[in-house]
Amino acid sequence: MLGWLRLRGGVAAVLLLAAAGCSAREHREPAPVTDVTEVRAADPGRIPGIMPVTRVDERRRAFAAYPSFAGAEPLNDALARAVDGWFRLSGGRRGVPELNVEWSAAAFSDGVIGVRLAAERGGTERRTFWYDRAAGEVRGSGDLVDEERLAALVRRKARAGAAVPRTFPSLAFNGHGDLVAEFGADAVAIGYRAYEPLLTPFGRRARDAALEVRPAPRWDPVPRTAVAPVDCRTARCVALTFDDGPGPETGRLLDMLAGYGARATFFVVGGNAAALPATLRRQRAAGHEIGNHTQAHRDLTRLPALRVSSDIQRTQQVVKAATGRGATLLRAPYGAVNGTVTGVARSLGLVHVGWNAAPGSGGDIAAEAVAAARPGGVVRLRDTDRESVDAVPEILARLAADGYTFVTVPELRAAGTVPR
Ligand code: NI
Repeated sequence: MLGWLRLRGGVAAVLLLAAAGCSAREHREPAPVTDVTEVRAADPGRIPGIMPVTRVDERRRAFAAYPSFAGAEPLNDALARAVDGWFRLSGGRRGVPELNVEWSAAAFSDGVIGVRLAAERGGTERRTFWYDRAAGEVRGSGDLVDEERLAALVRRKARAGAAVPRTFPSLAFNGHGDLVAEFGADAVAIGYRAYEPLLTPFGRRARDAALEVRPAPRWDPVPRTAVAPVDCRTARCVALTFDDGPGPETGRLLDMLAGYGARATFFVVGGNAAALPATLRRQRAAGHEIGNHTQAHRDLTRLPALRVSSDIQRTQQVVKAATGRGATLLRAPYGAVNGTVTGVARSLGLVHVGWNAAPGSGGDIAAEAVAAARPGGVVRLRDTDRESVDAVPEILARLAADGYTFVTVPELRAAGTVPR
């Protein structure tokens, strides 16, 4: 094709090709690859119908985020089941390490969805789920490639002593289109020429979906909302804060807050926020404050300073990309802070914000919130928890009747009452 173009050298020929729509290859812009075993991730903010789901168990230090997709119930169920399995294994026993599940979109096209889950619990376990949208079926590695021949290829490239499986829990693609096989703690990348003959027709569609570049959504700058300033030294102020979102309940919550003219502070998880930039923009446009709750909701006190820094910075970038500016507030996952965490936060221009009350431990959430509220107080809720969001209208009604004004954390900070 290229030779033919060069031969003719005509602009008309190029135009003709462009008009004909050419092949999917035209839409690929492989990102530079530094680590060949790094699986390419699609920008979740460009995926229509995606909704991040969050599951957290504070007592057990267990957090999982994973995506769901409109019209892909079998895939959604498979992802939920996998997460459920990890939660069950994490038990409730003392000494069980923190569980953390992160996700990325390994592929998204009109025909195929790929989701990679990485579960850390001491070690790391990776699983990639492939979904055939037309058939409505979840596919395993055997549906993508000739597993036996792939295992032989992987054995040749793997480190000595690596236990190469017969069925691969995670098959995905890097930015060059190389096949990445992950198993246990190992990962091997296989070049295009070697794996191409092993692909099934579905495997070929999966690979093309993995390399597809979707158009970036376009948006205008977030308009500033004119909000009458509240002086919390004289007014009866309370700050409602919502952690772990955004998620399926966040839109409903924003409607409720708007109904009361109430403003709140949202401590967003970067991984979730990246999938719902429009929700962040709506929050900011309504005058709410957006705080940083880190990228993957790890217990920061168990991480080295560099990881703490990168986890916070990744979310800063997500918030900035969606709304035009980064957060100024940080709330560490589980409220777990030490000198390292506060030091890193300060160096990144962030102030850590705790809470006075955290209703939602299985009791009457509205009653707990109302009882715990006090002027200048910070109440912590979760916009990923349906029961908490269900309680919000009653919380707003009862506190408003008590003369409270609902403000953001920076407004409270101006009055000097915010817990660290
Ligand atoms: Ni949290």
